[in-house]
Amino acid sequence: MFGTYGGLVGEGVLGLNKRNGDYISRFNPRRLYPLVDDKLKTKRLALQAGIAVPALYGVIGTQHDIRTLPDIVRSHNEFALKPAHGSAGDGIVVIAGRSGNRYRTIGGDILDEDFLSHHLSNAINGQFSLGGVQDVVIVEYMVRFSPLFERISYQGVPDIRVIVFRGVPVMAMVRLPTRASRGKANLHQGAVGAGIDLASGITLDGVIGTEVVTHHPDTTYAIAGLHVPDWDTILGIAARCYELTGLGYIGVDVVLDRDLGPLVLELNARPGLAIQIANRQGLLRRLKICEERADFGAPATQRIEFAKQEFKHPVGASI
Ligand SMILES: Nc1ncnc2c1ncn2[C@@H]1O[C@H](COP(=O)(O)OP(=O)(O)O)[C@@H](O)[C@H]1O
Ligand SMILES: [Mg+2]
Repeated sequence: MFGTYGGLVGEGVLGLNKRNGDYISRFNPRRLYPLVDDKLKTKRLALQAGIAVPALYGVIGTQHDIRTLPDIVRSHNEFALKPAHGSAGDGIVVIAGRSGNRYRTIGGDILDEDFLSHHLSNAINGQFSLGGVQDVVIVEYMVRFSPLFERISYQGVPDIRVIVFRGVPVMAMVRLPTRASRGKANLHQGAVGAGIDLASGITLDGVIGTEVVTHHPDTTYAIAGLHVPDWDTILGIAARCYELTGLGYIGVDVVLDRDLGPLVLELNARPGLAIQIANRQGLLRRLKICEERADFGAPATQRIEFAKQEFKHPVGASI
């Protein structure tokens, strides 16, 4: 049977039902979900394993804690506020500067303390969390993107998504913030998704929704052909997130900090399927290749070598 997804049609395309039935439910035990559905837990887990993450400045856990924000960020002019159970960029506020009690977001909006307090209050009440459950807000280091991405990002840090199947990286893309996505690299917010050749770490053309874009809509620079730095380190981190969580089908979100290099932002137990559009390649074909030939018990370096050989972007492929 042929799968279809967002205009991609073919045997190798992974659809939602198959993803849920054949991969997520088989390889992601439910009891492990809390490790990745709670970004605070993931951060602690990664730190224990020596995987770099943005530094934690503080946690706002209750309505009562909201007034501690100025204290938490007293020595930080830049920081990010993030609901621990949020997804798709909802509720994240990235503060890139401030004067007194006025804060400037990375998208250029000026917010006062009342606004932030109100936002924190909503977040704690679960406005941005899965199922609307009570939440906590993480206050963390603001990632600064490496100059390499300056030409193809608009006001925000791009992130690199790697799908990892039982420890083998199978597909990757970079998501580039746009004016529309307001400093966040989430496709649902309007960011550009561009595939990355797993073997070389070189970007392919981008997509917005299902439409191919060759140039960043705001900066107008070409998207394809960029060599993502620290590519092997990024693949290594992504592969190790399997051992970290025990989840067999995950999306690992990594950002490249200008000074600190690759940092893990979050892990996803139900990663989206649009990565296939960004790569013009089906996931199912790659997952089947892994199931047929990969040595899932091999060390991470070998799993990465396997991925690089098997999933090299075909030369001359229409991208
Ligand atoms: N600490 C941070 N510094 C700068 N930007 C951030 C930070 N955390 C998140 N972002 C921006 O918000 C996007 C979404 O963050 P993420 O942690 O992946 O949460 P979500 O579950 O909402 O996708 C990131 O891709 C990035 O563009
Ligand atoms: Mg994310």
